[in-house]
Amino acid sequence: SPAPRVRSFLADDDLTSAEQREVLELAAALKADRHAEQPFAGPRSVAIIFDKPTLRTQVSFTTGVAELGGYPLMVDGNLAKIGTRESVADVARVLGRQVAAIIWRTFHQSDLEGMAAWSGVPVVNALTDDYHPCQVLADLLTIAEHAGGFSASGPALAGRTLAYVGDGSNNMAHSYLLGAALAGMDVHVGCPPQFGPRADVLARAQAIAAETGAHVSVHDDPRLAVVGADAVATDTWVSMGQEGDADKREEVFVPYQLDAELLDLADPSAVVLHCLPAYRGKEITSEVLDGPRAVVWDQAENRLHAQKAILTFLARAGERT
Ligand code: NVA
Repeated sequence: SPAPRVRSFLADDDLTSAEQREVLELAAALKADRHAEQPFAGPRSVAIIFDKPTLRTQVSFTTGVAELGGYPLMVDGNLAKIGTRESVADVARVLGRQVAAIIWRTFHQSDLEGMAAWSGVPVVNALTDDYHPCQVLADLLTIAEHAGGFSASGPALAGRTLAYVGDGSNNMAHSYLLGAALAGMDVHVGCPPQFGPRADVLARAQAIAAETGAHVSVHDDPRLAVVGADAVATDTWVSMGQEGDADKREEVFVPYQLDAELLDLADPSAVVLHCLPAYRGKEITSEVLDGPRAVVWDQAENRLHAQKAILTFLARAGERT
């Protein structure tokens, strides 16, 4: 039977709004003192598994686990073939006997959930088809830093507006909806109607927003999403695994390109976010990506700090149980 439940981070709303704030504050503290937390001292191993391409995620998790005193154990997804060569439940039970946590990038959210159910150790979503919650933690840290940082009342996020334009149906759109709403931010998505957020995710985001005093909206017209925003984000039009449909997809998304004219509608102090890799001339122009409002290198660095914070938070939660 499945292992006893421990806390995992499979989707943004696995954290409450107060817990998310705690993680963001811990991330800022770890950025200031990179070795302040040592939850994996020993070192204990943390498995890091990729079934899709990676650069930032591999570098930041490997570096992060090492800085937390652990041993980053890279498991080659192409060799392990989890779910094909053997079941998720069997792999989970093998890993759970030996490692302190599991970080996994894969396709199906249900496989990640299976890993969490069967391993008995914290599992962290390093991107699935549905969500990319670690990226959004890093993005929230980045927005807060540029909006005045942290105060006694928390990170400078609540009451601000995040706009996301492009593919409203992908992992980043879903995670922005949930994660930014948890932070009390208004979230405005601008996307083609046939590429909107999944109805159940949108409903969850709306329920969270009702609790945190935020507003969530979806627009066909990207200008309506961006107007007045404090942060403007976009992402590739062709996510990993969708390469076969690239031509068809790119055609539909052309009106949603984040260019200087669209960005002009945002607040004059707005920052521009992109999780990378970026396709200049597709979802974003080089003028914008390489321009003064873009904070993408801060975002990429903040992956490290945000992920160390969520790993530390989960390890601590394990000690409490
Ligand atoms: N939506 C993109 C994010 C890449 C980090 C993808 O899934 O490929």
